[in-house]
Amino acid sequence: MELGGGDWHRQLLPRTAEVFTTSRISDRAGFNPALRRFSPPDPAMPEITNLFVTPLYRAALSEHGPKIDAEELANSCYSIAEDDEAGQEWCEENGYPGYTSYASLTDLPWRFPIFADLVASLDKHVAAFAEELEFDLGDKELKLEDLWINILPEGGTHASHIHPHSVISGTTYVLMPEGAGALKLEDPRLPMMMAAPPRRRKAREELRTFHYVAPKVGDVLLWESWLRHEVPMNMAEDERISVSFNYGWG
Ligand SMILES: [Fe+2]
Repeated sequence: MELGGGDWHRQLLPRTAEVFTTSRISDRAGFNPALRRFSPPDPAMPEITNLFVTPLYRAALSEHGPKIDAEELANSCYSIAEDDEAGQEWCEENGYPGYTSYASLTDLPWRFPIFADLVASLDKHVAAFAEELEFDLGDKELKLEDLWINILPEGGTHASHIHPHSVISGTTYVLMPEGAGALKLEDPRLPMMMAAPPRRRKAREELRTFHYVAPKVGDVLLWESWLRHEVPMNMAEDERISVSFNYGWG
């Protein structure tokens, strides 16, 4: 994947963090990464600028401390799921495949030290992403609002959705057996593309309508909460475990 506007993004981020925005057209039109602005375009070439980008942040959770042991986190998720009868009932009543703590447990960081460590790490990733997004937060900050476990069995999916009332949402990946499935992201303008033709199958990345991101255990992905996404079917025999979260402003 290419980074938007050249490598200068990397200088603002932790070593392994990447924000994918894309702008190959801009580069052709004379974007000068060193100067972080457009040079006068070549008169022989049209100037096409990429506007309204949709950044996706991906980094190793371990980039910032404290260190989170993925196996210990997975075991904690299982033990919480086994004890959380209210959560199990909610999943059964609502046809949720597998288990989520979303509707039953709102205080994981206070109950379990490993989740408190996880939040300490996520706070730093979210702050780095907010910096990249150039948010003017005023005298308020982005704060964790929700944090929940997802255990998705074989054949389970999580339908397309957004995260209302939040600013930044994301997921960290705890157990990802082979075939567990990517995260599918959708162009937020899709409902407005009434008469637009489809894109070519191999269209440039920044022009594609859907993206499939295959995270690894220990990755953290962040996006703005309005970005529609889904978890395609888990084709692995084993469970897929992730921890998702929302950050709000204020
Ligand atoms: Fe989600």
